[in-house]
Order: sequence, then structure tokens, then C-alpha cells
Amino acid sequence: MREYKTTDEYEWVKCRLLSFLDSAYFDNVLREKEHYENPSVELVAEDDGKIIGLIDVEYEIEKGTVCYSTNQLGGVIWHLAVLPEYRKSGVATMLLGEAINRVKSNGIKKLEAWTRDDKWVNDWYKNRGFIWKESYLHVYAEGSECDKIAKSTISKLFVCSSFNHYIGEDKETIKKSFKRVHECNLYELMLNY
Ligand SMILES: CC(C)(COP(=O)(O)OP(=O)(O)OC[C@H]1O[C@@H](n2cnc3c(N)ncnc32)[C@H](O)[C@@H]1OP(=O)(O)O)[C@@H](O)C(=O)NCCC(=O)NCCS
Repeated sequence: MREYKTTDEYEWVKCRLLSFLDSAYFDNVLREKEHYENPSVELVAEDDGKIIGLIDVEYEIEKGTVCYSTNQLGGVIWHLAVLPEYRKSGVATMLLGEAINRVKSNGIKKLEAWTRDDKWVNDWYKNRGFIWKESYLHVYAEGSECDKIAKSTISKLFVCSSFNHYIGEDKETIKKSFKRVHECNLYELMLNY
């Protein structure tokens, strides 16, 4: 395991893409690595020179600038991924452990993570002490489903596909109204000192 370096970008993007293919984020494709406004811990795990796992944590200098909740100075896990063929051997746990050590040396008191509804990923966070806080919906609308959300005001231009956030209470109705809806769950881990 080591720090990410800029020459890793293509391998990093490839690792993230292949690791997300069997998850609820399968079509959340990045072509470039994200850069952060705030300080960050960016680590990769390697096997024989190949990037097989990654974690990115952006963390705060001032409460509420990166995290959703403002209770403590925190960091957010924006990316965590391990290639399918390298899973269940502790790679992600090792990346998380090292990221925690590094953010703690910068005074960070908690970590947040957002994840969709893959049970195994939710269980992974829970088994590492993360506590579920809340969720909202990611709603994909396709074809005629789009008419329920938006109507084009431009002649001969049609809304064919859209991605939407639902933060209301009536989640069941939304889940019944659209074919592809994901819970997006917020987890929080208080760090021990
Ligand atoms: C979640 C993820 C990072 C875990 O990586 P990992 O290196 O396999 O995790 P570890 O080996 O450290 O931990 C193994 C644990 O995860 C479970 N696990 C990992 N992959 C699993 C799978 N495909 N099916 C079922 N359980 C799985 C193991 O059973 C084990 O369980 P435990 O919590 O009881 O110990 C990895 O599965 C992944 O890349 N998922 C897709 C990307 C993703 O969803 N990232 C998070 C989105 S924010």
C-alpha cells in the first residue's frame, strides 16, 4: 500500500471502473481522477505493480466544509474500491485502517461514507463500526418515466433520461413509480483516540 501519485491516474480509473461494475454504482464512470479542494488521503494497494484497490478521503480544516454533518471535524470517503478478484482478503480493511491513521494525525474525529443499496457493501461498513445515519433516493428516469419529472420547453427536444435526488418522506411511492431507484445511505464512524 502506498500513496497515490499522478502517474497512477489511468490505472486508478481502471481499478475504480472494474471494481464498481458489480455494484449499484456500475454506471458511475469517471474518466479522470477527482481532485480535492481540501486536504486528502489518497492511497492505493498494489499487486505486482498493478493497482488493485484504492481509497480517497477528503478531510476538513473547518467543520462542515466537507462533511454532511457538522458535529465533529471529519473526513469523507469519496472512493473505496477493490478489484473483484482481490476481494475478501482484507485489502479494503487495510486501506481504511491506514487512511484512519493518517486523518487522525490531522485531528480528524470522524469519517463519513455514502453508499448505495448493495447489502454486502452496507455490511462491510457496519462490520467496521460505521453507524447508519440516514438515506435519500437516487432516482433514474428513462423514456416515458421522465414525463413524471420534467417536460421539455424546447420544440422537438425530448427528455429521454434523467438522474434525480429524492429527499422527501414518501420513498415507497417513488420506488413504485420508477424502475431504477437506489437508497443512498450515509454512514458515520467516530474515530477512537
Ligand atoms: C466494499 C469493498 C471495497 C470491500 O473490499 P474487500 O477488500 O473485499 O474488503 P475486505 O477484504 O477488507 O473485507 C471483507 C469483508 O467484506 C465482505 N465482502 C467483500 N466483498 C464481498 C462480496 N462480493 N460479497 C459478499 N461479501 C463481500 C467479506 O465477506 C468480508 O466480510 P466481513 O465484513 O464480515 O469481514 C469491495 O467489495 C468493493 O470494491 N466493492 C465495490 C465498490 C463499492 O461499492 N465501494 C464502496 C462504494 S462507496
